[in-house]
Amino acid sequence: MSGAGQGGRPRVAGARVLSGIQPSGVQHLGNYFGALRQFIALQDGNHASYFMADLHSLTSIRDADERRALTRGVALDFLALGVDPARSILYRQSDLPEVTELAWILTTVTPMGLLQRCVSYKEKLEAGLSPDHGLFAYPVLQAADILIWRADWVPVGQDQKQHLEVTRDIAVKFNLTYREVFKLPEPYILEDAAVVPGTDGRKMSKSYGNTIEMFAPEKTLRKQVMGIVTDSKGIDEPKDPNASTIFALYSLLANPEERAALADAFRRGGTGYGDAKKALYDKIAGYFGAARERRRALEADADTVEDVLRDGAKRARAAVAELMNDVRDAAGVGPRN
Ligand code: TRP
Repeated sequence: MSGAGQGGRPRVAGARVLSGIQPSGVQHLGNYFGALRQFIALQDGNHASYFMADLHSLTSIRDADERRALTRGVALDFLALGVDPARSILYRQSDLPEVTELAWILTTVTPMGLLQRCVSYKEKLEAGLSPDHGLFAYPVLQAADILIWRADWVPVGQDQKQHLEVTRDIAVKFNLTYREVFKLPEPYILEDAAVVPGTDGRKMSKSYGNTIEMFAPEKTLRKQVMGIVTDSKGIDEPKDPNASTIFALYSLLANPEERAALADAFRRGGTGYGDAKKALYDKIAGYFGAARERRRALEADADTVEDVLRDGAKRARAAVAELMNDVRDAAGVGPRN
């Protein structure tokens, strides 16, 4: 597994792992190599919980049906890629209402300045989202997601690092204001996130429109791969693999021999970008073949997915009950314990 813990921290077994995905779009290779792959791996030997952050998506998606479809889509992605409800807890954020209760309590100890400094808030405004309170308070809800689990590790991409710092600051603030209730989570920054290039060579991201979606219908997937931007070198010309998006993506999926073979073919000349793209497409289709199959089967089986989520919510609510009692007691909200 790649994406080692920060600072080479040894991986202790039995850690509490928590992460979430905001259902705001279709998952792509950047999400997979940047986060999802590590979520799956971290299930081994740890207590992992993963959720679909549908409440967070309220800040950017205003269409109810779209939210439901995307939330369900993320659940299918999780399950198809190997989040295993027998080992981990998979739930929908809104099915754990304690999170919103905690978010309010945390809001009352969160300094405005802390949120004003958040880069992702500023970026969202620049991207045209309206500056409403939910968007501003987004990191507080995220802090509640995390602190409610007493999570040890929160695997996230580099772009979420600041939100993790905010989470720690909020936890400290509560602990100082009332008493030591919250544990400070460690970020578990997944450095790999940066190295997945999109079809135009920039970082793969929905907002750039340069994604390759591993669960897209075959035709779409093929189109995305064939749309990778290359230079204009002819078939016979030698090519630098390290300057090629095709090669970078192929490298993520292929074994070392295959990788070396493509690098060689590029350097020798005689291999066109079109052929390399076909090889990349085949690799993606092969790598995700079983997951695509599983996802198709789950898609036709809404009951099973809802059962998994209902069970996940039940287990999640049981798991957070003690912490929530502790929070209410510390803050003097509700009856004395
Ligand atoms: N903000 C995260 C993102 O956009 C999603 C998220 C919400 C999250 N709550 C979380 C991630 C809690 C980790 C832990 O990627």
